[in-house]
Amino acid sequence: MSTEPPRYRQPALPIKERIADLLARMTLEEKIDQLHQCGVGDTNPNNLAARADEFRPTYGSFILNGAEPDLALRNALQRRCVEESRLGIPAIFGCDVIHGYRAILPIPLAQACAWDPELLRRQCALAARLARAHGVDWTFAPMVDHCVDPRWGRVAETFGESAWASSVHAVAAVRGYQGDTPGGPDSVAACLKHFAGYGASEGGRDYAFTAVPDQQLWEDHLPPFAAGVAAGALTVMSSFNDLNGVPTTAHRRLLTDVLRTRWGFDGLVVSDWNAVLQLLNQGFAADESEAAQRALLAGVDLNMADGLYRAHLPALVRAGAVPPAAIDEAVRRVLRVKFRLGLFERPYVEPSALSGAAPASEHLALCHEAALRSAVLLKNDAATLPLRTVRRVALIGPLAEDGAALLGSWAQQGRADETPTIAAALRERLPAGTELVVASGCTIDGADTAGFSAALAAVASADAVIVCAGEAAAMSGENASRTSLRLPGVQEELLLRVAAAAQGKPLALVLITGRPVELERVEPVYPAILAGWQLGSAAGAALADLLLGRAAPSGRLAITWPRTTGQIPLYHHERPRARRGREGEYQDGATTPHFAFGHGLGYTTFKHGPIRLSAGEVAAAGAVTAEIAVENTGDSEGRETVLWFIHDPAASRTRPLRELRHFESAVIHAGGRRIFRWEIVPARDCSFPDEDGRRILEPGEIIVGVGGQGVSLRVV
Ligand code: GLC
Repeated sequence: MSTEPPRYRQPALPIKERIADLLARMTLEEKIDQLHQCGVGDTNPNNLAARADEFRPTYGSFILNGAEPDLALRNALQRRCVEESRLGIPAIFGCDVIHGYRAILPIPLAQACAWDPELLRRQCALAARLARAHGVDWTFAPMVDHCVDPRWGRVAETFGESAWASSVHAVAAVRGYQGDTPGGPDSVAACLKHFAGYGASEGGRDYAFTAVPDQQLWEDHLPPFAAGVAAGALTVMSSFNDLNGVPTTAHRRLLTDVLRTRWGFDGLVVSDWNAVLQLLNQGFAADESEAAQRALLAGVDLNMADGLYRAHLPALVRAGAVPPAAIDEAVRRVLRVKFRLGLFERPYVEPSALSGAAPASEHLALCHEAALRSAVLLKNDAATLPLRTVRRVALIGPLAEDGAALLGSWAQQGRADETPTIAAALRERLPAGTELVVASGCTIDGADTAGFSAALAAVASADAVIVCAGEAAAMSGENASRTSLRLPGVQEELLLRVAAAAQGKPLALVLITGRPVELERVEPVYPAILAGWQLGSAAGAALADLLLGRAAPSGRLAITWPRTTGQIPLYHHERPRARRGREGEYQDGATTPHFAFGHGLGYTTFKHGPIRLSAGEVAAAGAVTAEIAVENTGDSEGRETVLWFIHDPAASRTRPLRELRHFESAVIHAGGRRIFRWEIVPARDCSFPDEDGRRILEPGEIIVGVGGQGVSLRVV
């Protein structure tokens, strides 16, 4: 009798051999149970999951979406999987760790406004470390959907409207979550989601049909996924949407031809929540059995929550409707991720000092750094900000004392009672002798204006006024589509009344939102406007620091800020219209955005020199260096971000007026000067995809631009 452990239990053997050995030992039922992901926990209001009551020790995966991190529950379930099943295959535990874990970071849309991939990597690494300490093996992040319609609540979860910037951020996030060696004590498996085209949801309505032309799919929606796969992401999540008539949950061309055959992805694909069952709603399957068959054969390996694989695959295999080899290949991919994470050797997570602990100061320090960098100063006439010392400050608005709203969507393990409000942070920072008077004026989305009088009285008694307006956390994120970007409730009316009452006093508006909001009527009467997004655990502290000048804002918009909902979609990478000038512009309002992609102010000023090219023309296989000198012409240190764009004025596919292709952010001291450089490699930076994703590089003129200037480069 051999005393040697079975080959799949020998870590020294290649993973491929361990998988082969284990697969050969598994029954069909054991294989199919590995393809089931069971919901445990109940904080995603859109996907309430019974706790694992129908538990089987042979299930492949569980979702830990409980409000309270529960390491003990996780290890208890894992122990049953390892000890009660015949082969002792460990489960993999997933969780939505989207922007932090207990120590909550800015929402991804805000993170992208910092234009700092290394800062994002650090944030994701912190989230991974904290999540791992609570039994999470796998986060369902980064979300890298492309969206140009802020009516869609999940715009808050994106890295903004630039496919190129989202690709850079996808790589940084994968590196942050997975670390250099996936499976380490401080890393979790990443999950590129939602594959693909979900951000094009019709009318901004979640779960809706998405019409995406193939060329645009390759141009805007697929690049961040390709970049994340190349960065080694271990998993991908298919999405809810019906992409051009084929739901992505059953989209073989996407999930197999593109993801696996073209990109070489060998990790696992998990469906989104109940998305296999939803194929019936979408009219893509006549019954549950057909839904399971279509999803499995398209390339979805792990079935999240609805249980259709577990219920129907055995009969489908026996009936010859699903080849056993297809089951084996799906199981192979699930086991491969488990082996790569070391779950067979380390199935349990030992409690550590991080488990169950409140965020430590160094965690909150990173939250604070990220929050400072993610806020965007949209307007600052007459240097209204930073506020000078005054006797009394009125802090008005429903977001002044709301900690929960600062955390934003997908912040399950964040705690409002651990999140200092803007009011609390200001009280802590205002100099002695300065009084803070707080009046909410109204609720976030109520119709009651009874609170206006107290708010206006506070304004009348104050020497400076700060207004905090915006959205509740649940007004963005999943299943949070809006018909209008107007501020909810009666907030806009309050803001206009406050502005009228504050005449002549320093007046600043702080926006706490998961998306751009309409400011067309508000902006003209507010000299200073700070987009505070939803900056997480340190939001209050960071916003107070920015308002009082203890730090300077440096964020730049990663999304276009429309004037009105009627302008949507409105984005920087628009293709040229057939007519120039004012022809084609709206007759009843402005066509330009309220604040452009890349816009953002600081507390100093910068002067850009001319763009210089190391050569006026470049061979297709060559390279040319572009540079621009930037001078800090103000009297305080500041951070400048230079966004480099190209435009191809004549090509075999129409090209966007501006395509972001490089960016760099740096601090420049007062009076200092810095050269920002970009090495342009035409094949990488001047090419574009055709309908099948083939890169095209054509000779001819390319306009290289920064801000309002552009220079001509010829590709020969
Ligand atoms: C959701 C979301 C997805 C999330 C999953 C698990 O419905 O679409 O982003 O990761 O369910 O909670």
